[in-house]
Amino acid sequence: MAANTSELAVRDAAMAIIDLMNKHGEDGPAISAGMRGPMAKVLACPDLTSLGVKREGNHIDNSKYLYYDGQLIITLDEFPKGKTIPPHDHGVWEALCIYKGRVSHTVYTRHDDGSVEGFADLSVLEDRELGAGDISVVAQPAEIHGFTALEDGTFSVTVVGGHYAAERHYFKPDQKTCVKRRPKAAA
Ligand SMILES: [Fe+2]
Repeated sequence: MAANTSELAVRDAAMAIIDLMNKHGEDGPAISAGMRGPMAKVLACPDLTSLGVKREGNHIDNSKYLYYDGQLIITLDEFPKGKTIPPHDHGVWEALCIYKGRVSHTVYTRHDDGSVEGFADLSVLEDRELGAGDISVVAQPAEIHGFTALEDGTFSVTVVGGHYAAERHYFKPDQKTCVKRRPKAAA
């Protein structure tokens, strides 16, 4: 069966991002700058929600693979309105590319070196609403974020440059604390 236009847009974006990863390694900001054009074409596709293969989401129930090769992972994720995903890290860069709806999204910088168990000193680097077509990349040195969907039917095309760390940190910035746990336990 011939691929449809949206599948080709996802594939073209994946190939472009693979080129960027080969060129820039772990340099999230450089990858971020280069992925905006190809991801804009993906976000313009009208039928993404009918594509993909179901996966087990980290914090949510409706998550599908649009692309997977073990090193580059592109998923379509529905963020339930009003469900707050607490500030967390990833161990790898992640891009939220908003397809539909709106998200209140906060990115944090961590100031301590993580050597004191349970302690984390974060400050807000960016706090803004993301709407359809907006892209936010969280990458070292600021790869911590938290978010809440503001509308029903909010979807993100999420791009991840490899595997998430099995155990990740979840933060309470106002209390300067963090815990290490598997994402499912935090939902
Ligand atoms: Fe995340």
